[in-house]
Amino acid sequence: MSLEGKKILIIISGGIAAYKINFLIRDFVKQNAEVKVVLTPSAEQFVSKVTLSTLSKNEVLTEFYNDNGTWNNHIELALWADVVLVAPCTANTLSKMVHGLCDNLALAVYLSAKCPVFIAPAMDLDMYAHPSTKQNLELAEDFGHIIIPAEYGELASGLVGQGRLAEPETIYTTIEEHFSNAHQSLKGKTILITAGPTYEAIDPVRFIGNHSSGKMGYALAEEAARRGAQVILISGPSGLKPRHQNIQLHRVVSAKEMFNAVFQYYNAVDIAIASAAVADYTPKVVADEKIKKNEDTFTIELVKNPDILKTMGERKQHQILVGFALETQNEVENAKGKLHKKNLDMIVLNSLRDEGAGFQKDTNKIRLITAEEEQPFALKPKEEVAKDILLFIEHKWLK
Ligand code: PMT
Repeated sequence: MSLEGKKILIIISGGIAAYKINFLIRDFVKQNAEVKVVLTPSAEQFVSKVTLSTLSKNEVLTEFYNDNGTWNNHIELALWADVVLVAPCTANTLSKMVHGLCDNLALAVYLSAKCPVFIAPAMDLDMYAHPSTKQNLELAEDFGHIIIPAEYGELASGLVGQGRLAEPETIYTTIEEHFSNAHQSLKGKTILITAGPTYEAIDPVRFIGNHSSGKMGYALAEEAARRGAQVILISGPSGLKPRHQNIQLHRVVSAKEMFNAVFQYYNAVDIAIASAAVADYTPKVVADEKIKKNEDTFTIELVKNPDILKTMGERKQHQILVGFALETQNEVENAKGKLHKKNLDMIVLNSLRDEGAGFQKDTNKIRLITAEEEQPFALKPKEEVAKDILLFIEHKWLK
């Protein structure tokens, strides 16, 4: 992938690793990217403006005003950029960024940026491990920024641990991948994704649920958003948080709530993917108070929940409809049955008999089944599985 013409704005803050950015700029410029550099005031202690401006072929800025009294327009700089990279990002600059402080040009540029922001932190190991740094990195992720984590190794203090700036090659590859993924193959499409389990209340403290973590559905949502889609993620209870700004999260608890949320959006979406593990049954009566353990046995009468995916199949107009099948036996036959009964365009089969597949795992092993064909895939991280599913959909229906 060429970086030709890509506009990369690098904010360097004051850390010993700042010298590594010289190599990064050289590599970006070699690929004909346009690079501009803004320094925080303390970064000037660590790098030479002359070196940076020679390598980037652009003036390097630190102050709001130049010696001749002219103003450096931070808004223009921020809007110029296709990406902003903050590297190295010190604990101080990170903290100011996520709390909206704006006492130097670099922070003003950051606050004005509308493009993706990459943050490569670098600091001593205890600072990196401090709860406030962790919280600040989480906040940055919540804003939709991409963190390029610090690496483990020898630090300027002589200590060994996590806190080293990621190597320039790692930062380079992350930025390059961003641009190559940004082919926006799903731009203009709206995708609805269901994820996670549902919880069916028995009484105010107990529920019937399942082991779904939401990892598969959230991975699909992130990948679809990276490809430019607007994503509506309808999630049952899950500890996960979406990162990408194109993901609109709608949290639900029970199957009925998931049903209602899905049909609030379904008519307007182009693609729907049901990866949630929805409870098939729910207690007929939910006790108002906590049920006491007076008897040796206890019976709960269950009634069928609505089948969300089947109803989507019945109401299908223009949508590409994809379901999941989680099986433990006669996998392909059962999945094909669901493909047909629920009027799906494709079903993603995963089996609990495959090690590393299914609930909670970071990996999955799937087989994609349509009316015309079947394609098995190897065991892979769920992020890669999400790419396989979306690529298949793109090739089959969106070319
Ligand atoms: O969340 P993770 O921990 O990452 O785990 C991922 C997963 C194992 C949950 C996921 O890969 C998966 O297989 N999801 C579907 C689980 C499931 O409920 O499968 P099923 O074969 O019972 O249901 C078939 C399809 O109908 C599914 O798309 C399901 O979302 C849908 N369904 C089922 C029942 C119901 N009442 N409404 C539905 O929409």
